[in-house]
Amino acid sequence: MSDADTASATLLPAERLAGKVVIVTGAASGIGAATVRRALAEGATVVGIDVAPPRDGEAPGDRGLDPGDRWRHELVDVTDEDAVEALVGAVAGRDGRIDGLVHAAGVAGAGATHDLDSAEWHRVIGVNLTGTFLMTKHVLRAMLAQDPSPIGQRGAIVTLASVEGIEGTAGGSAYNASKGGVVLLTKNLAIDYGGQGIRANTICPGFIQTPMTEVVFDLPGLDAVREDFLREHKLGRFGRPEEIASVAAFLLSDDASFVTGHAMVVDGGYTAGRDHHITDLLGL
Ligand code: NAI
Repeated sequence: MSDADTASATLLPAERLAGKVVIVTGAASGIGAATVRRALAEGATVVGIDVAPPRDGEAPGDRGLDPGDRWRHELVDVTDEDAVEALVGAVAGRDGRIDGLVHAAGVAGAGATHDLDSAEWHRVIGVNLTGTFLMTKHVLRAMLAQDPSPIGQRGAIVTLASVEGIEGTAGGSAYNASKGGVVLLTKNLAIDYGGQGIRANTICPGFIQTPMTEVVFDLPGLDAVREDFLREHKLGRFGRPEEIASVAAFLLSDDASFVTGHAMVVDGGYTAGRDHHITDLLGL
């Protein structure tokens, strides 16, 4: 276990997700993999899906968890509607119900609009936005078909947007458009399905240390950009995947029973406001 895992494990609400069946996409890596581990640690049965198997060190067993038959990992592309429909149907059939979805599958992408290939636009929108539509569409169908829980809940949907879905960032184009779409799609789900006992919220992370951000910041010439991004996180550091997973677990749980339609920034203060180095002049 990493230090972060150990720290959060000692504070876990006991069995908050016990008995719940949760699908996590993007489960092979980063935020999705941390969410799989967190949901398992809180007692859920978890079906992780991804186009790839878990990265080295990311599977529950690699971090000291022994979930037994409460965990499986399936290879599914979230842009393939037939595969998504089959997966959701199989989970509902085998596990009896689907209480939660955390949709973390996503891809990075950048480029100035006048230079952007249409194929790249469609790739980023396809995974990040259309993938969110397809996963939520089929999970909603399963949730609508099941009885509500004793507190009247049929299910909880958690999507992954970004701080870049609520404000612009230079060069973001397709990525920012996709994440802005995820924010409003999720708010619409909250409106449309609240009456059926289904909650929908989106998490807007700041920069989190995952393979996705490593790839971006490893590009040549980005050292100064990285430092600038770091400074905009008022806590003075990037986030850890576990710090998003803990919020996802809260939003899945009955502790969030009155939380829906929310775009929750989890960003170390990135969107709190501008600093403009005034803190230096103030001696802070
Ligand atoms: P990551 O690259 O570590 O993990 C993303 C996972 O999604 C990978 O395992 C990948 O194989 C999977 N995936 C990609 N395309 C797929 C497809 N078509 N079908 C199924 N799985 C697919 O990325 P990370 O950082 O964990 O990101 C998770 C989510 O959080 C993404 O939606 C990302 O946009 C979002 N996010 C990440 C931030 C960060 O700083 N890392 C900041 C804000 C949002």
